[in-house]
Amino acid sequence: MHSDRTALVGLQFGDEGKGKYVTYFLTTERVDVDARYNGGGNAGHTIIAPNGKVLATHQVPSGIVFADVYNAMLHGMFIDPAKLKTEIEDLRAKGYDVDPSNLGISGLAHVTLGHHIELERLDEQRRGRGAIGTTFSGIGPTAEEKYGRRGIRFAEFVNPESFRRLLEAKSEELRQRGYPVENLDFHAETYAALQEFLSPFLIDEAELNRRKRNAAWLYEGAQGILLDPDFGSYPYVTSTHAGKAPRATVVGVAKAYITRVGGGPLPTRMDEQTEALIRGERGSAGAEFGATTGRPRSCGWFDIPAARYAVEIGGVDVVALTKLDVLSRVPVIKVCTHYDCDGRLLDTIPADRFELERCKPVYEEVRGWPGVDISGARILGDLPVEARDYLKMLQDALERPIEPVSVGPSAEQTIEM
Ligand code: IMP
Ligand code: MG
Repeated sequence: MHSDRTALVGLQFGDEGKGKYVTYFLTTERVDVDARYNGGGNAGHTIIAPNGKVLATHQVPSGIVFADVYNAMLHGMFIDPAKLKTEIEDLRAKGYDVDPSNLGISGLAHVTLGHHIELERLDEQRRGRGAIGTTFSGIGPTAEEKYGRRGIRFAEFVNPESFRRLLEAKSEELRQRGYPVENLDFHAETYAALQEFLSPFLIDEAELNRRKRNAAWLYEGAQGILLDPDFGSYPYVTSTHAGKAPRATVVGVAKAYITRVGGGPLPTRMDEQTEALIRGERGSAGAEFGATTGRPRSCGWFDIPAARYAVEIGGVDVVALTKLDVLSRVPVIKVCTHYDCDGRLLDTIPADRFELERCKPVYEEVRGWPGVDISGARILGDLPVEARDYLKMLQDALERPIEPVSVGPSAEQTIEM
């Protein structure tokens, strides 16, 4: 079966610290293939390369900076060719090899072009105060075209003849729908350099699967279950599937608290003072600012109803926790055990957006371990009893093993159970 396949999936609103566990898996386990299967230019994973350098990956799987890992960008992704070229050039400038021997892009992935980003700008403007707060990476409009059966696949993008035909049709389509096509860059020549640069990376996904059938795969999820268009806090979600991993052992990654960037509800948001402590200074390691957009993240207490929901919806086998060390900054820790919605106690997230708006978190206060530096802990016994109680509380609520637990950015700063 697929015992050699592990998927890392975010259980919250993205930014759970998946990059930490990507680094951890690539450092401590055998990984032959590191695959991305969702997200696009909106994603950002902070990882630590084997040479100790910290870097952010966006569309390219993080295995690219590790030796002997083949990196695959698969069908669920929305590829922004211009940003991808820049990312590959940046990686090369930093001394990492990127070529068809260690990177392949599925012809089934869809591409995000300039007009998608322009359409997203118009869409967010139209929504006004109800804006989604997107990353302006063209994700929503690319999804609309994909599911409206008007999208362009990567295989078609890198084939100049196919692309020319699709671009002509696209231009006509947008004109008929009343979009200001004159302002959009709709010339095949603009894309020629990108096509030439990216075409060597084109792969056949079925052939890759056949060739790597017995290999060890790591699926590197982007965003998180609460941003998935099916399962997330709709409509404040992204538009690629962040919640359903390929068949694999599913490791759900959650922060020891919760953060969110962009619009939409965060029921357990902390008071301003506590939030400032947890967020940290812009630019400091692990500070809560977006890796792709630099926006400050809203911070909240661990939300058990949301996590319980995500664990069940995502078919999660184990929960890997991150940033437990950050909680050393606060004297008292709160945990949301239920939502109170119109006097009813809820165990998970309601599907009706207005009901969710009315949900009030019900908290339990637990004892913290203020000022105790736990970043050097390597086994459970190294943690203060309050921290162990906290883990036990989450484990009982989620009915899943919590392992490993991360207490710092490096792969070594990990507690194995
Ligand atoms: P979009 O994916 O750019 O359309 O943005 C939709 C929502 O998802 C916004 O709230 C974004 O802030 C959020 N989002 C998208 N990508 C990420 C990510 O990688 N981490 C955290 N939030 C994200
Ligand atoms: Mg991120």
